[in-house]
Amino acid sequence: MRIYMIFTLALCLFLPFGCKNPSQVADYTIQKSIIAKNAVVSTAHPLASEIGLQVVKDGGNAIDAAIAVQFALAVVYPVAGNIGGGGFLTYRSGDGKISVCLDFREKAPAKAHRDMYLDAEGNVLSGKSTDGHLAAGVPGSVDGCWQMFQKYSKLKNWKRLLEPAVLLAENGFCITQSEADGLNEYRAGFVKNNTTPCVFVKKDTLAKWKKGDLLQQKDLAVTLRAIRDRGRDGFYKGKVATLLAAEMKRGGGLINEEDLANYQAIWREPLRGNYRGHEIISMPPPSSGGIALFQLLGMVEPFDFGHYGFHSPEHIHLFVEAERRVYADRAKHLGDADFYQVPVHELLDSQYILRRFSNFDPSKATPSSAIEAGVFARKESPQTTHFSIVDTKGNAAAVTTTLNAGYGSMTVVGGAGFLLNNEMDDFSAKPGVPNLYGALGGEANAIQAGKRPLSSMTPTIVTKDGQLYMVLGTPGGTTIITSVFQVLTNVVDFKMSMTEATHAPRFHSQWSPDEVYLEKNAASAETREKLKKMGHKVAGWPEIGQFESIMRRKDGKLEGVADKRAKDDSVSGY
Ligand code: GLY
Repeated sequence: MRIYMIFTLALCLFLPFGCKNPSQVADYTIQKSIIAKNAVVSTAHPLASEIGLQVVKDGGNAIDAAIAVQFALAVVYPVAGNIGGGGFLTYRSGDGKISVCLDFREKAPAKAHRDMYLDAEGNVLSGKSTDGHLAAGVPGSVDGCWQMFQKYSKLKNWKRLLEPAVLLAENGFCITQSEADGLNEYRAGFVKNNTTPCVFVKKDTLAKWKKGDLLQQKDLAVTLRAIRDRGRDGFYKGKVATLLAAEMKRGGGLINEEDLANYQAIWREPLRGNYRGHEIISMPPPSSGGIALFQLLGMVEPFDFGHYGFHSPEHIHLFVEAERRVYADRAKHLGDADFYQVPVHELLDSQYILRRFSNFDPSKATPSSAIEAGVFARKESPQTTHFSIVDTKGNAAAVTTTLNAGYGSMTVVGGAGFLLNNEMDDFSAKPGVPNLYGALGGEANAIQAGKRPLSSMTPTIVTKDGQLYMVLGTPGGTTIITSVFQVLTNVVDFKMSMTEATHAPRFHSQWSPDEVYLEKNAASAETREKLKKMGHKVAGWPEIGQFESIMRRKDGKLEGVADKRAKDDSVSGY
C-alpha cells in the first residue's frame, strides 16, 4: 500500500509541475531496447510502460500490468488506446500450464444489418462505416479487462490498476509531438463528428496543439472512476451507458443500452502450431491473424530461405507469393466463427497448405488475378496498438487493442469523454469493395447483428523447448500478419536479436491490391529491379507496423524492444 501511495504521489507531482515547463517534460525518456533480468513492459507510450512496470514491481503479474496499461493508454494514447474499442489477449503462464486467448472484439449492435452501408442502388455509402456514430461497434475493452482481472489477477486490487489512468485523465499529461500532430491532423474530423464540445479540439479555433501542451480529460476521469468503483457495470450499465446511448441517438448511431448490457468478452482456445521446432500460440477467429500466420509459416517452412540473404529478391518473392495465396483465402473464408462456419481445420491442414503452394514458381510472380481462394472439401474465420509484457514469473501477455482507424470514428461520447471505434469498417460492407485496409471479403465477413468483424490482430507467443521464447505483436491492419511473420522469421531463420528483428525494414503484400509494398530501406535498387522483372508490382510504403516485442535470451535475460518506427513507443524493465 505504501509503495502504491508513493507512486500515486509521484504521478500527481510529476505531471502538473512538469507542465509548467512543457517542452522539457514532454521530452519523455524513450527507451527503444532493454535487457532486463526480471520483467519487461513494451507499449506505445512511456507513461503506460512505466505504469505497467510499477504494477509488476508492486507484486502484480503480467495480467495486472496489462489491465493498468490498457486503461493508461486510453488516456495518454487516444489515437488507439481505448475503452471505446476492443482487442485480443494471448496469455501464457510462466509454467506453461495455461495458454489462453481472450476475445474482447467489438460486436455489431443488435440493429445492425448486412446492407446498412449501402444506398438504394446497392453502392457503398462512402465514410459511413468509418466516420461518426454509425461506424461504431459495441465496445469490448472494459469487459475484456474485467474478465482478465476475474480470472488471472494476482494483485486482486482492481482500483489500484485503474488509479493511474484516473489520475492522468484528471490531472492531465504533457502531449508529445506525435500526439500533437495527430490531434491537429484529425481536427476537422473531431469537429464534424461530435455533437458536444470535444476535449481534443482547442477552444481557440485557430490554435494548434503543440508538444508539451497539457491534455486534461475531466469527463474521461469521471468515466474511469465509475469503472474503477463499479467494475464492468461502471461502463456497461448506469450513467456511462446512458450517456453512450444518448450520444448514439444524437448522431444517428445504433448502439443502445441493451447492446451494452449484453456485451461479453469470450475466452477462446488459442491456435497452436509448430515452426522449425518452435511452438507458436496465436489468436483464432474472429481474428484472421493466427490462421494466416500459420498458413504463411507452413508455406515457407520447406524452403531454407535463411540462406537466401535477408531481403534478397528470392526471399521477398517467396514471402509475397505465400502472402498472395493466404490473403485470398482470408478474403473468402474468414469471419466470426460464432456466425459463419470458418473452415479452420481445413485451412490449417498441412497437406492443404503444401498443395496451395505447389504452383509456386521461384522465378516469376503469379498475378493475383490468377489466384482464387483455395478450395477444399468442407468437413462440416491503420490504427491499433499492441503491448507485450513479461513478469517476474515468466507469465507473458500479448495484447493488441484497437479503435480501428486513428481516433476511431472520431466521435467522443458526450459527457463521458471517450472515443468510439469505427470497427464496423472491418466487416465487408459489400463483396468486392475494399475496406480501409484494402481488404476484400464476402459472406464470411458480412454484417450481422451481434457478429464480430474480422480482424488481423495477431498477438502471438512463441515457446521453445517448453520455455517462453518470444512475445510478439503490432498494429497495422492487414500488415499486422505479415509483420509478425517477418519478425518471427527474422529471429528463427536470420538469427537476429530481437532488437535487430524488430527494427529491420519490412515489406507487405496481400493479394489485393496486387502490389508489393516496401519500406524505404527494405530492398536495394537491384533487388527492386529483379522483383519487377519477375513480374511484381513494387510500391513504397513509409512505415509498416509499430512492433512491441520481448525475447527470452539464452542467458535467461529478457530483451524488450519498442519499434523505432514510432517516436513515442518505449520499453521499460528491471
Ligand atoms: N481494426 C484492425 C484489425 O482489427 O485488424
